[in-house]
Amino acid sequence: MSLFLKALRGEPLERFPVWLMRQAGRYMPQYRELRKRAKDFLDFCSNVELAVEVTLLPEKVLGIDALILFSDILVPLKPLGVEVKFSPFEGPLLKAPPLDEWKEFDPKGVGFVFETVRRVKRRSNLPLIGFSGAPFTLGAYILEGKTSKDFKEIRKLFYSDRKRFHLLMEKLSRMVVEYLSAQIEAGADAVQLFDSWAYVMSPEMFKEYTPHLKFIADGLKARFDVPLIYFFRGSGFLYKEAFKLPFDAFSIDWSLPIEVALKELSGRAVQGNLDPTVLYAPDEVIKNEAIKLLQKVAKDRKTLYVFNLGHGLAPDMELNKVKLLVDTVKNFSL
Ligand code: CP3
Repeated sequence: MSLFLKALRGEPLERFPVWLMRQAGRYMPQYRELRKRAKDFLDFCSNVELAVEVTLLPEKVLGIDALILFSDILVPLKPLGVEVKFSPFEGPLLKAPPLDEWKEFDPKGVGFVFETVRRVKRRSNLPLIGFSGAPFTLGAYILEGKTSKDFKEIRKLFYSDRKRFHLLMEKLSRMVVEYLSAQIEAGADAVQLFDSWAYVMSPEMFKEYTPHLKFIADGLKARFDVPLIYFFRGSGFLYKEAFKLPFDAFSIDWSLPIEVALKELSGRAVQGNLDPTVLYAPDEVIKNEAIKLLQKVAKDRKTLYVFNLGHGLAPDMELNKVKLLVDTVKNFSL
């Protein structure tokens, strides 16, 4: 079994595995080269040949321990009837019909995603992580119609029409279960739910939202024995409610001390925690910060940890520094 799956399943490790969110992205010259071959970003994601090549890039370039499907969390919204565009200047732009007019999700509408999964599995022996946006983060983009710093629209809906808020979460949760099921059936070895905007919620709002996350975890657990990872930003104030959920692993940001996560998640896997802006520092600092984190984890456990950042790599990061980080983790033996 791969190091990554061993870590998630609690088996003994010789070292901690490492992969990085947005590991195939614009900071990588090889990504920028491939990106030129597509008209726009969604075209890039839906072109199976290109998506396979991009997914595989980090294995060759960085030597990481797991691949993540190259796509975007907004891709499966189209089959629901939501229009999605990516503007090079404004980021994603979305337009949704009224909730009652949404279509039931049909995975065939994004068949290229599963074909990408199947082909990546044929080309690499590394474990492949499938993913989906979590209902709150998807709903936040849909209601806002674009990106935002605080996603007020979905919070307004929560307070002004609680029934519709839950209806929106239910529709998205059903889509997430079907979408992730199809990725697992195509060969994904683990799946991660991205709740990047969880932190705009109050703890009370988050608590009222968690049954939708439980619906997703239970729905997948009933059908598959594949590790489920929940990534949420805002770990520092939301972790108590989050950790009650039946996920196998939690990917945390840097707002939660690693010691607290390790203690609260005894017997379950922790992923992440390093602040990505460490990568703008001199090499020695990058090494020291990574080793400091690894030592804290190793003091508590020798498995059930996957090295990652608290959020994704940014386009202006240097490839050599990212490589140094990966090598530092790989050289840290247990
Ligand atoms: O991690 C990986 O390498 C896998 C691929 C992946 C992408 N997006 C590629 C991408 C994954 C897992 C995502 C998830 C995603 N997409 C999230 C959750 C994680 C997070 O970053 O918080 C969110 C919120 C999105 C939505 C999204 N996609 C936005 C707001 C943008 C525009 C901002 C930006 O970074 O450009 C994207 C575009 C996007 N998704 C790019 C990539 C490589 C850049 C697009 C390009 O090449 O022009």
